[in-house]
Amino acid sequence: MNKIKRIGILTSGGDAPGMNAAIRATTRAAINNGLEAYGIMRGYEGMIDGEIRKLTSSDVSGILQKGGTILKTARSQRFREYEGRQKAYENLKSNNIDALVVIGGDGSFKGATQFSHEFDIPVVGMPGTIDNDMYGTDYTIGFDTCCNTVMEAVDKIRDTASSHNRIFFVEVMGRDAGFVALRSGIACGAEATLIPEITGQIDSLMQLLSSPERQNRSSIILIAEGHTEGNTFEIAERVRQAFPHLDVRVTILGHIQRGGSPTSYDRVAASQMGVAAVEALLDDQKSIMIGLQNGEIVHVPMNKTVKLGKDVSQAMLDMARILV
Ligand code: F6P
Repeated sequence: MNKIKRIGILTSGGDAPGMNAAIRATTRAAINNGLEAYGIMRGYEGMIDGEIRKLTSSDVSGILQKGGTILKTARSQRFREYEGRQKAYENLKSNNIDALVVIGGDGSFKGATQFSHEFDIPVVGMPGTIDNDMYGTDYTIGFDTCCNTVMEAVDKIRDTASSHNRIFFVEVMGRDAGFVALRSGIACGAEATLIPEITGQIDSLMQLLSSPERQNRSSIILIAEGHTEGNTFEIAERVRQAFPHLDVRVTILGHIQRGGSPTSYDRVAASQMGVAAVEALLDDQKSIMIGLQNGEIVHVPMNKTVKLGKDVSQAMLDMARILV
């Protein structure tokens, strides 16, 4: 018989739309399997401080459509230290919690991997970050909503850009990865998309802007915040210097990209992952991440998700180039 009776759930790192759907699915799947679910507040911080409370089915009612996370989140410095992790473990034990579900990005999984290695507690992760930069899964919770937010914002920017024949540099999030920029760039027909994974893009941009067909026309240049050839303002300035006749503007979309009601894709995928996380724990899995590959649930060893990176799709890169 499975020894797990109580599952602790936490969200960690940057919040992402769909985290609430994941909390709801995990809680209800646990209850449905005769287990108890406990919410841990503010990620690892709340685990260290013992901010843990039982979640009933009605506690997770009405949250599916809400952005953010009802459990709150944090980036915990203290969990990086052994003393912090030990305190967290003691709090789990004193609440009789015998398994942990962590919803977060690679930073959160680094902590989770170390924690499950040091202490005898199974940990299952769910990828929750708008950046979509996790190895082992095609998709992370929040990415779809984020790309839709970017698309809607850029559609609005395009109205004013084309009315004035301006060149807009629009900076999007993604930390050091270009997944948000690339997908959103295709979705909103950006004339160029600059991402950290590809070098030499500034030269190509200069060539594009000097071509006769781009004169007296507006352009949207999407740029990932982690671009390595300068920040957005610096790159925009280089374009201004090279083409003094062009009217250049910069928009930084910022944290608007992390908020809002999750899309149906984010809600359904987060729900699938939550159910799969509970099933994995009941199946005696330890230290794995639930991922989605080609639309199917997969189990990925958690240590791989923190050691290995994810490549941007060459097909998407080609498409972005062809469609300009
Ligand atoms: O990882 C999610 C993310 O939104 C990144 O895209 C961004 O670089 C970072 O978090 C911002 O973090 P914070 O909200 O802590 O400034």
